[in-house]
Amino acid sequence: MYGSIRVVRFLEQDEVQDGESDVLSRYEQFINPGLARVLRFMGLGAVENTGQGAMVITESGEEYIDCAGGYGVFIPGYQHPRIVARAQAQLAKLSLSSRVLLNRPMVELAEELARLTPGDLQYSFFCNSGAEAVEAALKFARIQSGRSRIITTTGAFHGKTFGALSVSGRATYRQPFTPLVPDVVHVPYGDFEAMAAVTDEETAAVIVEPIQGEGGIIVPPDSYLPRIRELCDKTGALWIADEVQTGLGRTGRLFAVEYAEVVPDYLCLAKALGGGIVPIGAVVGRPSAWGFFDSQPLIHTSTFGGNPLACAVARETLRVIVEEKMPERAADLGLWFLPRLGDLQARYPRVLTAVRGRGLMIGLEVPHPGVGGAIMAELFQRHILAVYTLNNERVIRLIPPLVITQGQLQEVLTALESTLEVVDAQVEDLVAE
Ligand SMILES: Cc1ncc(COP(=O)(O)O)c(C=O)c1O
Repeated sequence: MYGSIRVVRFLEQDEVQDGESDVLSRYEQFINPGLARVLRFMGLGAVENTGQGAMVITESGEEYIDCAGGYGVFIPGYQHPRIVARAQAQLAKLSLSSRVLLNRPMVELAEELARLTPGDLQYSFFCNSGAEAVEAALKFARIQSGRSRIITTTGAFHGKTFGALSVSGRATYRQPFTPLVPDVVHVPYGDFEAMAAVTDEETAAVIVEPIQGEGGIIVPPDSYLPRIRELCDKTGALWIADEVQTGLGRTGRLFAVEYAEVVPDYLCLAKALGGGIVPIGAVVGRPSAWGFFDSQPLIHTSTFGGNPLACAVARETLRVIVEEKMPERAADLGLWFLPRLGDLQARYPRVLTAVRGRGLMIGLEVPHPGVGGAIMAELFQRHILAVYTLNNERVIRLIPPLVITQGQLQEVLTALESTLEVVDAQVEDLVAE
């Protein structure tokens, strides 16, 4: 009766809630067959349902301590009550902006960021992810400086959109998409002399993570960031600090650049800024790096960027992080946790070759990706979630919510100890694979 028109019926929510294994099959059918195969191979098929603090809980009621932290977004933990309440209040009022009338949550968030970020960082541009924040900062640096060259580091991860990918460091992700954005130069991370050799009066920007996250939790020498600041001042290049992963307490300070007591020209944020509730990204810039907007206020925009819901949540998130002293908590817990991980490394050096990090941004280096895969799978069996770093499959990172308790970290240590014992017994086979 409808001729050639196909009549479809949408499935009701309870019709699609079959067993958890069915969800993995539907990943295979509708999302990403390759990913589904990897997850199946690793024995990862549980379906998340809710979360609280540092725990994520599956549909079948299994509880996991989350040391992967949603790649770093859950700094205040899952479903922090204050942040959820703020989201609900704003949702009931206004979620997205008219884009014509003035947006109070956005300006309140920008004001809070100006207050909390170091030095004279003052203006904010809002977007929806880390990669978008990096894209914006790269464009801002080019237009502000009138130059095009960008200096970046090998092993860096700044996102997977074209510009962000162009300044990232892993060939596997870059190679299939060449040619990427031109006039980008890569130098080894942590090597100031290499950076100084290529940074000059033609350089628009230097982009650097204060601690390389996806590169394998690499902490640079103490003098690295101050010397980059000096180099940029000398050459007129702008310094973009990518704090998408290190920012908002993770390393034991609200911003990781605080350790070096330096102020970047642009500071990129995302991940935890959304409080584990909403996506949001931001670039915070100094007045001296924001002049281009004076003559071209619409030169870079985003329809969803700065929406009232995300901004209200982000402002509450900042308050929660500061008032609940989460950076201090990360510093203290890191000081307790790292030496204990070091003890395990000393006992199982064949499967754990190094332990490093700052605050609750911790990397466990393994001798071979196969060993890392086995450790992650064994930890999962023991209800601990951990993932390796995207640009370095020989490093498993532990970036739990900062609300994690010492008791939960002790559980992680206990699970890791028995995991290392099991994996150590298989190490020859794993390394040969
Ligand atoms: C330092 C850094 N910058 C940028 C990004 C990209 O963020 P997103 O995945 O939100 O685009 C990431 C993501 O892991 C990151 O760690």
